[in-house]
Amino acid sequence: MDWGMQNRLSQLMPGGKCFFMPIDHGYFQGPTRGLEKPGETIQPLLPYFDALFCTRGVLRAAIDPVGSKPIVLRVSGCTSMVGKDLANEALTTSIEEIVRLNVAAVGISVFIGSDYEKETLKNLSTLVNQCEDYGIPVMAVTAVGKEMEKREARYLGLCCRIAAELGARVVKTYWCEKDFDKVVQGCPVPVIMAGGPKCETEAEVLAFVHDGMQKGAVGLNLGRNVWQSPHPVAMAKALRAIVHDNVSLKQAQDIFNATKAGK
Ligand code: 5RP
Repeated sequence: MDWGMQNRLSQLMPGGKCFFMPIDHGYFQGPTRGLEKPGETIQPLLPYFDALFCTRGVLRAAIDPVGSKPIVLRVSGCTSMVGKDLANEALTTSIEEIVRLNVAAVGISVFIGSDYEKETLKNLSTLVNQCEDYGIPVMAVTAVGKEMEKREARYLGLCCRIAAELGARVVKTYWCEKDFDKVVQGCPVPVIMAGGPKCETEAEVLAFVHDGMQKGAVGLNLGRNVWQSPHPVAMAKALRAIVHDNVSLKQAQDIFNATKAGK
């Protein structure tokens, strides 16, 4: 592997594991609850995550370029929650902009099985062609739009494999209760778990993340279940311990409870 590619991947995944903090939600859903001021949202969470996933707009407006965490730049978009079809995404950023912003990786959604399957997969291929020339890893996001029921192993496994075959260096997908290990095993590149809409309890989040890590995921890209929680720092700390310190679920819950109690 080229030095630049390897260096970027190692920044993103110290020790081969990662906790990315997504704050890109505004790119299709506007000022999401908890993200009205993204720079302020992430401030207390900085010690716990490895990289920030955001658009160039938020990066320029809200993130200090001096001493910043590695950036995974969201480079697909041009659709909205109120538009006709969330899947109809385009590439939003040129390779010159990606290089200028000195990002560690880029992230792009693919909508497999949608009316825009081919277009979004073509976006991925184009991006891989551009980014590989500069040693910049591409993270493919297997997106489901509003169809959250699609999150089962056969579909997710298909999506991850296709994204990897087209050249994604890392794939982000949803955890699923049954056969998540098969999703991971069928994908020749590292798999990162997505968060999804806010779960009812923090315990639920810790449990699925712990299970996914045991089944071979290399990490997380999980936002709302952290910064929409009443206890974001406790959540971030407990999740970091699962990802990087391989703690048991019980230990993660203890970390969450102790941090929440201010201990
Ligand atoms: C949307 C994304 C977002 O980055 C990510 O899913 C948001 O994280 P979370 O769901 O944990 O709030 O890729 O497709």
